[in-house]
Amino acid sequence: MVIKNASYVISSPSWQKCPAPDRPEYAFIGRSNVGKSSLINMLCQRQSLAKTSSTPGKTQMINHFAIESSKKEKAPKYSWYLVDLPGYGYAKVAQKSRKAWSKMIEDYISGRENLMQLFVLIDGRHKPQAIDLEFVMALGHWQIPFTLVYTKTDKEMPSVVERNIGFFLEQLRSSWQFLPQVIITSATKKVGREEILELIGNYNEK
Ligand code: GTP
Ligand code: MG
Repeated sequence: MVIKNASYVISSPSWQKCPAPDRPEYAFIGRSNVGKSSLINMLCQRQSLAKTSSTPGKTQMINHFAIESSKKEKAPKYSWYLVDLPGYGYAKVAQKSRKAWSKMIEDYISGRENLMQLFVLIDGRHKPQAIDLEFVMALGHWQIPFTLVYTKTDKEMPSVVERNIGFFLEQLRSSWQFLPQVIITSATKKVGREEILELIGNYNEK
């Protein structure tokens, strides 16, 4: 897939305020600082389309980016949205804000009719974290299609990343019959771009 154009549209405090659901949409979610905004920039080959920060909690709203892509250089254009969501699990966030986050995200995930797929980002350096497992388990209950995206893999040995993925899937296997697809990425080294774009391209054509 070739991305022809990527532009920021709007930051919304709730799913009701999001742009009209007139095209397929793909959202990125995961712990604060896991690399959601960086991955969106990497996919779009832009330095700072989505705002990134070394301090967790940077992204606070539902951020829409309008994308135009085509299958090949001269093929017709296809429009869709990429969505950058605020992260979960930031220790310094007050209980009240955490509840507000949960409600915003639950409402968005369950209410957004054009949401085709969620990309759940997990830091490739860590063993399964309770908060990620809880979130993924909740997605199972809501029946939302999702893909696991391992991030920051440039910071760890491939064997350690593989082991962490294995542990995570092992935990899911105890309650699930089907396991999610896993994509290994690095925003800094531009790893995993084609795989994510191909997955989106396949959905767009459904
Ligand atoms: P919040 O919006 O706060 O939830 O964070 P986020 O998940 O959007 O993370 P963000 O993209 O802002 O990245 C957080 C930090 O991790 C930044 O300092 C990035 O430069 C760094 N980072 C993100 N992805 C990678 C990666 O693949 N490799 C390395 N080495 N650093 C990364
Ligand atoms: Mg962010």
